Amino acid sequence: MSLRKETVAMIREYARRYPSAQSAIIPALWAVQHEQGYVTAESLAEIATHLELPPSLIESTSSFYSMFLTRPEGRHDVVICVNAPCGLRGADEVLAYCERTLGIRAGQTTQDGAITLRSTPECLGACGGAPMMQVDHRFEENLTSERIDAVFERLRTEPAPHEVVKPKAVAPVKGEKARSGVEGARPRARRTQK
Ligand code: FES
Repeated sequence: MSLRKETVAMIREYARRYPSAQSAIIPALWAVQHEQGYVTAESLAEIATHLELPPSLIESTSSFYSMFLTRPEGRHDVVICVNAPCGLRGADEVLAYCERTLGIRAGQTTQDGAITLRSTPECLGACGGAPMMQVDHRFEENLTSERIDAVFERLRTEPAPHEVVKPKAVAPVKGEKARSGVEGARPRARRTQK
């Protein structure tokens, strides 16, 4: 399956944005995972073509990072940070609460297919909001049982990020090229304030 043209446009935009195409690999992988829910061997080859880089470089980058999935999992990806700063603020209790609430262990997917739960000993870069979790690449910080319950309730009914309808192309202003509403968007974690 080929990538959507909006995703290809984003990958090409990343290649233009950075001095080295190599710097665009991770944003490109996120763009693909946001579109498909995971990263296939075919899509890795497509990224290599669009970035004009060796396929082995894309593959090795993708396999190095655990956040890039190689098979379909739950509609939503929930990752609890259990690194030291989050641990000092109760991350182990947060993880235990999530496991009890969802009825699964870290690494498993709920029976309804809504949520895959993970934990990571790698800092996710939001220590100031510890304890925190990353939900579909967005940060949920200063977690309490009430906040976690609210997030899980929302996720049980929300479609997967890659199933959300993309904004239509923005009509070009005279003298400018047409641009998509998603083109050039940075697929990086966004913080949700308390
Ligand atoms: S230690 Fe958890 S975000 Fe940094």
